[in-house]
Amino acid sequence: MLHADGGSAGFEIIAREDFSDVTYLLEIRHPLMAKAAKPGQFVIVMSHEHGERIPLTIADFDREKGTVTLVIQAVGKTTREMQQNCKVGSTLYALVGPMGLPSVTGSAKKVVCVGGGLGVAPIFPQARGFKESGAHVIGILGFRTKKLIFWQEKFAACCDELILCTDDGSAGIKGFVSDGLKLAIEKHRDIDEVIAIGPPVMMKACVEVTRPRAIKTLVSLNPIMVDGTGMCGGCRVRVGDQVKFACVDGPDFDGHKVDFDDLVMRLKRYAEEEKAAMERWSEACRMRSVVDPASLATLASLAARPPEPSARR
Ligand SMILES: Cc1cc2nc3c(=O)[nH]c(=O)nc-3n(C[C@H](O)[C@H](O)[C@H](O)COP(=O)(O)OP(=O)(O)OC[C@H]3O[C@@H](n4cnc5c(N)ncnc54)[C@H](O)[C@@H]3O)c2cc1C
Ligand code: FES
Repeated sequence: MLHADGGSAGFEIIAREDFSDVTYLLEIRHPLMAKAAKPGQFVIVMSHEHGERIPLTIADFDREKGTVTLVIQAVGKTTREMQQNCKVGSTLYALVGPMGLPSVTGSAKKVVCVGGGLGVAPIFPQARGFKESGAHVIGILGFRTKKLIFWQEKFAACCDELILCTDDGSAGIKGFVSDGLKLAIEKHRDIDEVIAIGPPVMMKACVEVTRPRAIKTLVSLNPIMVDGTGMCGGCRVRVGDQVKFACVDGPDFDGHKVDFDDLVMRLKRYAEEEKAAMERWSEACRMRSVVDPASLATLASLAARPPEPSARR
């Protein structure tokens, strides 16, 4: 595992793309991480010295360019703060990883990679990994509506078949990714494996589609993580009759055994604290925006002036 706090240099953001009002991509220069990263792994990021540590999936890596790509949804204080501050040329304070067990993309001959919403980004390295190992790859991508679609061309380049789904029918088939999965299963009787990434409710729906046919189905779990090294127990998940730590035993698990209700309940545990952190940060932003820059400049020049002669005595 690579760990560096970046010192004063940090890790440079060399590209940014905004997919929507809430979803953005950051490409970060980190040659060692790019060399070590494997599909399914994640990093822990601190955007600044006093920032929270948050886990983010490595959505892409380019070993030649020496970069890793993160796709982030602004859902709370830290991800919104990053949305505001992470610009091309700025740096991330810390980037630790690659963490988690890599996905196994070697043996399956026919696979379905399902990504729902933001889950489209983390499923990409797996779809590419399966393709590189010679599998027939069926990609299923789901978005609420056409204007939220991203990376369709990237998937088209590494999938043998691609099914696009939108909730409102504005692009592709009208329906959820689980509907796309039903179509794929009806068409192909020889699917070895399905891997689904997205919100828990989406992964649960996919698991119920494959259960009657007993098709191996992996899901990637995102419980709350703190250290990411198996020490704190924060990322506990129930899988069959076992308790696992998603950061070191996962994040991929057998979807037919995952207790999704427990996962959803645990994800809501700190809702009050998250709301309070968001409110404090929004208020601080509001205060900064209402302070007149001219008064700030006057205060700064007064503070820098030498004291009056009388005051020196
Ligand atoms: C292995 C893993 C990979 C992830 N990959 C991505 C990704 O590629 N892109 C992305 O946008 N998000 C990803 N997440 C979720 C991301 O970490 C959270 O959205 C982020 O921590 C929220 O922080 P916040 O301060 O903005 O929001 P908060 O208001 O603090 O939280 C909003 C919600 O995010 C979840 N969350 C909060 N803190 C954490 C935490 N430390 N660990 C996990 N979940 C948390 C909770 O469900 C919470 O209700 C991943 C999570 C895990 C565990
Ligand atoms: S995040 Fe602490 S044990 Fe997994």
